[in-house]
Amino acid sequence: MSEDIIRATIEPVDPASFQLLAVRICEMAAQRVLNLYRHNCKYCSNPVILSAVSVAAAKDELEPLELRYTCKCRDGLIREAPGGSAYYQCFDKRLDSEGVWWPDLDLAYPNGAPFIKRERYEKYRDLFTPRNLLALAYIWDSIENGDWSRRESFLLATLFRSIVHLCSRVSGDRRVRPLSAGWTQHSFWFAKNPVEINAWGAFYRKLHEYSGVIRSWQVITAGRSFRVGKTIDEVFRKRADIFVCTQDCATFLREIHESGHRVDYVFTDPPYNGMIQYGELSTMWNAWRPSKDFDSYIASIARSELTENRNQGKNIQDYYQHLRGALGQIAEVTRPGGYVHVTFSSPKVKYRNFTLRAARLAGLSFEKLHFQRSVRSSKKSIDQPFGSIFGDFIFRFRKPSSTSLPPDRRRLSMAELVHERVEYILKHRGEATPIHIAAAECERELFNAGFFDDDKALNRDVVDAMKRDESFRVSRDGSVTFACETRFTGTPLSLRVEKTVRERLAESRVVTYTDIWSAVLKEYPNSLTPDSTSITRSLQKYAIQKAGGVWEVKPAALRDRSTVHNRIILHCAKAFLAAGYEIAIGRPERSDAIFHSLRGRYSDICALIEIGSEKRTRLADHDRRRIANIDLAAWKIGDGLLPEVFLVEVETSTGFIDAFDRAQALLRSPKLDVTIAMMVTDRLRELQGRIGNRTTFRSVPDDIKRRTRVVAFDPGELTSLRKWKTLSQLIRRSPTWADLEAATRAVT
Ligand SMILES: C[S@@+](CC[C@H](N)C(=O)[O-])C[C@H]1O[C@@H](n2cnc3c(N)ncnc32)[C@H](O)[C@@H]1O
Ligand SMILES: [Zn+2]
Repeated sequence: MSEDIIRATIEPVDPASFQLLAVRICEMAAQRVLNLYRHNCKYCSNPVILSAVSVAAAKDELEPLELRYTCKCRDGLIREAPGGSAYYQCFDKRLDSEGVWWPDLDLAYPNGAPFIKRERYEKYRDLFTPRNLLALAYIWDSIENGDWSRRESFLLATLFRSIVHLCSRVSGDRRVRPLSAGWTQHSFWFAKNPVEINAWGAFYRKLHEYSGVIRSWQVITAGRSFRVGKTIDEVFRKRADIFVCTQDCATFLREIHESGHRVDYVFTDPPYNGMIQYGELSTMWNAWRPSKDFDSYIASIARSELTENRNQGKNIQDYYQHLRGALGQIAEVTRPGGYVHVTFSSPKVKYRNFTLRAARLAGLSFEKLHFQRSVRSSKKSIDQPFGSIFGDFIFRFRKPSSTSLPPDRRRLSMAELVHERVEYILKHRGEATPIHIAAAECERELFNAGFFDDDKALNRDVVDAMKRDESFRVSRDGSVTFACETRFTGTPLSLRVEKTVRERLAESRVVTYTDIWSAVLKEYPNSLTPDSTSITRSLQKYAIQKAGGVWEVKPAALRDRSTVHNRIILHCAKAFLAAGYEIAIGRPERSDAIFHSLRGRYSDICALIEIGSEKRTRLADHDRRRIANIDLAAWKIGDGLLPEVFLVEVETSTGFIDAFDRAQALLRSPKLDVTIAMMVTDRLRELQGRIGNRTTFRSVPDDIKRRTRVVAFDPGELTSLRKWKTLSQLIRRSPTWADLEAATRAVT
């Protein structure tokens, strides 16, 4: 099925020929199929066509509960409760007597063992109402016996197969969507109340959908052409760009290996033990193939499907051996230094460890585990924003350039290794951390240390090790934290992320999630990679999502900057200028017209640090970006030993912590004498309150706190700030942050 879908997508016919093809198949099949759904309107008795029927199903009995149709005599959907229980009998007889072909199969393996997912169905025909199976058979008849080219009949058959499940009984009736069907269970679900949708309607909609696919593909390829090869060898020899195939990966990988060619990259999404029985379930579609093709299909899944399935005679050990073999072959055909991505979505530790162990024994090294939250949010993931593992894990492996395994660190116990890693990650992130992120870090280390090499590893769970470690606390929301809160240092990651998000918004006003995500990834790589929810939360705080998925900054997030906030900056800037300082205004503010007459650039202050050292060291981009967001900087190369720098941060609305973060790079430099003037207007009390419940500020180093003056003043007296004498005295006489903290501590 997947190969057909891919081919139908990447090698479509042109839209005009498809249009013609659609018209021809409609002419051939529509009437014959639609006749099966004829009915007379309960209001006007005129002939109508049923759109859908809600059905009651028992093991051997089917009964219509509600007929649904539209009629010219009134608006909207008409629902009718039919009388009589022999409704489907005539279709059953016709299936057997008309001589039209349909797949008469057992839902079983060639040796007679039943499909484990067949529920109460025994035969393929049981999956359908007799009418819908007959309807499908009629459409198939037109495809099989019409006068089509090979390409045409391939397209029609593929489109046909892709609607079969919608016409089956595995689709439960939903009264809110009375005309639609869907296969939502990973089994041949025996729905007690299935919906029987009009099979011709489903096929007709698919024809339409496919013309949409053709058009989208034209847009995607934009006239570029590529060559689809018939063998993998053509790709290696650069005679083709793409080769598509479905077969047992072992065979395919062996062919590659024997060709002597090596590949640069592998992406694989293998089955997660027996969670989904792809082979059995695909019978739904593959049944509609010539019987020799179907037989070889069933034989091939029984033989080589990678799964756990007792009726295929495969237990969990077989699954593991098979996976291990496949990853071994993958490692073999990957060139040294090449990458392998493996996705994995079972929350069960044991199965994850299987994958890790198989990869380790294949000689791959484990570089990174990325957790990709599912786009759909389940109820569970809303209740436990960190804890629930709803989504996919993506392991990144690399084939080492040398063949030796990484050094054995198994001298350390697993508990010791977990301890070391979790401590590292908590210190780095400065806050409680989603458990899957901490676990990923541990697993990477355990993997490379050889912990997954032996059987005992399979049931070991790093999360248990974290829980047992007394230095940490695993909370019920699924995060891990230091048992003793004071061990955190550094600004909490979520606040750093929030700042990055806001700065980006202030810079560009409109951003995409991807912009933000890549900015954050660059700034906080590897073990610092934040959970995507913290990005979403910050976005929701400062921006509104617009059509097309872009985020636009909320006016309120910038607004107060252009009023009191900006006027304070303006007055201070004038005072500094009058006293002979050079100044620069923060990038987010610069768009405000009140600053237009002022010049000054942040690159000049960066140059103070960068120039003059033996080696010119350029500040990192993210440091520059942060510095450029400082509300106001003023500096003078005076008589002192070091240039004197004032960083003015006006805290009229934000969380106080930003100032430290922006100023960091300048504060770190031994070449400057920096004072932060934190202009808090009348918010001194609020700040003291915040200092009182100190967790947020614990991370700021003491020497920075001593260099920060907390300047309180009456916001009604703004204009007095523009006099240098007033401003400089005000700053000099204000308490430092350290003073305030000491005072608050004395009180509590
Ligand atoms: C998790 S699914 C992949 C889903 C796919 N990435 C997608 O998004 O549609 C795993 C697939 O591996 C296939 N598979 C099972 N055993 C295999 C084998 N031995 N060789 C190759 N593919 C196999 C299954 O049929 C199934 O389609
Ligand atoms: Zn009517």
